[in-house]
Parts: sequence; C-alpha cells; structure tokens
Amino acid sequence: MRLDKWLSDATNYTRSQLKQLIRSGQVTVNDCIVKRPETAVCQTDTICLQGKPVTADTFCYCLLLHKPLGYVCAVTDATEKTVMELIPPDLQRKGLFPVGRLDKDTTGLLLLTNDGAFSHALLAPRRHIPKYYWMQLARPYEVQYAEQLAAGLTLADGTHCLPAEILPIPNTEREAVICLQEGKYHQVRRMMAAVGNHVEQLQRIAMGGLCLPSDLLPGDCVPLTAVQMELLQQPNDPDRLRLLAEKYKKW
Ligand code: URA
Repeated sequence: MRLDKWLSDATNYTRSQLKQLIRSGQVTVNDCIVKRPETAVCQTDTICLQGKPVTADTFCYCLLLHKPLGYVCAVTDATEKTVMELIPPDLQRKGLFPVGRLDKDTTGLLLLTNDGAFSHALLAPRRHIPKYYWMQLARPYEVQYAEQLAAGLTLADGTHCLPAEILPIPNTEREAVICLQEGKYHQVRRMMAAVGNHVEQLQRIAMGGLCLPSDLLPGDCVPLTAVQMELLQQPNDPDRLRLLAEKYKKW
C-alpha cells in the first residue's frame, strides 16, 4: 500500500496533510526518512510520524456524518435504512458504529467510530460533553422555558432531567437552540412536550466545541481531523449557546 494511504487509514490526518508531513521529512520507514508519499509499505514495516511509531490503531478512527432525515442510528436494522448505508466504501472500517443515537427524524452532527473506548468516553455522563440542538417549534417560544429547563424538568413518565439551557433564535417566533448535558431517549422532544410545546424539526448542531460544518451536506461524511477531535473535547464555554443562537439568527 502507498505510504500516504496507509497513514491516512491509521491517523486522523487528511491525505494532503500527510503528503506535506512526508515531503517535509517527518515520516520514517524502518528508521529511514522517506519523502515520497507513494512509497510502498507493508505490514512488517515500522512507520514513525514525527518520531512516534504509528500502528493501525494508534489513532482513533472517527467519522463526522451530517445525518439526514429518515435513517436510524444502528449498525443493522431489519426494516429501516441505517446511517451505515451512507458511509462510502473508502471510509468504511471494520467495527464502525454510531456514537450514541439521533432519532430517525432528527438531522445533524453524528459521529461514528470503530473505537469503543472513544465512544464510551464521549457518552459517559461524568465527561459532560454538551450537545447543542436547533429546533423549530409548533407554537411560539415562551420566555418561561429558560427558567423551567434551568430548574431541571420532570418528564411525563417521571424521568428527571439535568438542568438545561435554552435560548430563542433572534428574529424568529418558533425557533430555539438548546444545550443538554445528557442524552436521554427523545430528550429534547419530551422536554418541549413537558413545557407544553411540540418540536417539529430538530437538528444537532454541535458537540462540545465541534460544530456541524456548514459545507457538509445532509448524507455526507468526512473523517474527523485531529483539530476537530480536540474541539470536541474542549471545555464547556458558557457563551457557546448564545453564539449558536446568533449563528442561526434570521435577518
Ligand atoms: N433529543 C431528541 O428528542 N431526539 C434526538 O434525536 C436527540 C435529542
């Protein structure tokens, strides 16, 4: 296999980033600097990037998908189309699965990985990676929602939710953004039902500091870069929800 292809399968760098790294002498094969990205390598070669050995599982493999409507977040399903069907053959990997779930009728940012530990770290409640959603409501947004959600709602079936933050989108009547610190079943829809409204459209727009890229079309996916991986794990920014509300503002 070509060296740049081997490295792009094993790392989070893009092929063009890797070509630059290789050409600038930052990659060795069996202790020799190799500057040609097309150099053939095999399984027994020792490949180092910036002095560190790279193995096929040194880096976590993760994809960012813009989930469209109508697909379920499962590896297989007897009756429904799954998000796995959207992954092009060159990005498929053995053991790839969606990190958490979005409903069939929710769109937006969905991660897929073949690394169970990475998925667990992202979903573990104590890690608190905040998740941000844009929604369109059936009825006008009401100012009391912010206080009700901040107090921690109790859903119709008695489930308690952690305090959440919600903001209306400026210049709209029925649009809002919400930040959740947890991921209960149908949580946003059930929370808005608990305050007497109904969610008509729902999109996950960010996880941590990682936003759904505006140029990633529904159904498209890209490998997560090292920079995006860091953004995902960025500490909570108290201003992020307000900035997202501004981003979705209507003029
Ligand atoms: N909350 C929901 O209600 N649905 C989702 O898909 C995600 C969060």
